[in-house]
Amino acid sequence: MTWLVTGGAGYIGAHVVRALIADGHEVAVLDDLSTGFKERVPDGVPLIMGTVLDPAALARAFGDHEVSGVVHLAGKKKVGESVAEPLYYFHENVEGLRVLLAAMGGHGVRSLVFSSSAAAYGMPDVEFVTEDTPCAPLSPYGLTKLVGEQMIAAAAVAQPLSYVNIRYFNVAGSASPELADRGAANLIPLIFERVDAGLPPRIFGDDYPTPDGTGIRDYIHVADLAEAHTAAARRLIADPQTALTVNAGRGVGVSVREIIQTVGSVIGEPGLTGAVEARRPGDPARSVASADRIREELGWTARRDVREMVESAWAGWRR
Ligand code: UD1
Repeated sequence: MTWLVTGGAGYIGAHVVRALIADGHEVAVLDDLSTGFKERVPDGVPLIMGTVLDPAALARAFGDHEVSGVVHLAGKKKVGESVAEPLYYFHENVEGLRVLLAAMGGHGVRSLVFSSSAAAYGMPDVEFVTEDTPCAPLSPYGLTKLVGEQMIAAAAVAQPLSYVNIRYFNVAGSASPELADRGAANLIPLIFERVDAGLPPRIFGDDYPTPDGTGIRDYIHVADLAEAHTAAARRLIADPQTALTVNAGRGVGVSVREIIQTVGSVIGEPGLTGAVEARRPGDPARSVASADRIREELGWTARRDVREMVESAWAGWRR
């Protein structure tokens, strides 16, 4: 049995591919290389170059590789871009998933791990976000993830389909320098970018109702997140009735100032401090997962701390 990883040449996908292989699974990758890189696909893993929007590419992947499950990560993930181009996001993320589900139905593929996001929750006003916290996404990106989950649930009523939706919190770090995230779209790489430019990292608001006034997030090491996918795959193999939505986070809140401090310590600039700017519209003060359900249902807990995330991200950045 082979797991088809869509988006397997991307930053998170490449980690998922390696985690599945380490766990003893056969893997194939479907990626259109729009943001992924061929070099991230390990030797010996078949790469089908194509998009999930193309039924012929999916038919090729399913037919040639005895696929019995899909880990679906292919999609667009830039929150700001989704505000500017909402219909593009619906096409890529929602229509892409629809075409994938139809192809899975047609080829008798019954297991799906879906890459969802904490962005589905929007502005959660709770200390720890559980999977039952109401979802009110603030961006088209978050909405495409929530709609995706709902489409999967609806499809699972009409076709044989078991699934695990994984809602990622703030993903960081890398398992090895060459697998590092190459974009600088979120806090840790943006700090590196400022440091390289000789400028202080930017703090978007220090007047939040949090202990140091800056935003709090639940940062999770990408290698831990990848292992959450293998735990989900195992569960789907063991129990074909699975219909599960889980948070992937550590359940630990870390502030922007704490991240800057850790970066300073890792890069040998212990006095590193940020420059405070206005709040970024749409940013919640706090977004921290309850990691209870994923531990209880999948037996998964994150093992790596923020320092390991920053150290590995820095090694990748320097490379
Ligand atoms: C991130 C993801 C989003 C995902 C969500 C899940 C990005 C761009 N966004 O959003 O796709 O769905 O997690 O919860 O990866 N900050 C600064 N200075 C900076 C950059 C950021 O102070 O230069 C602050 C932000 O205001 C926020 C925190 O750092 O409080 C994290 O920001 P960011 O890395 O952009 O992630 P999220 O906005 O949480």
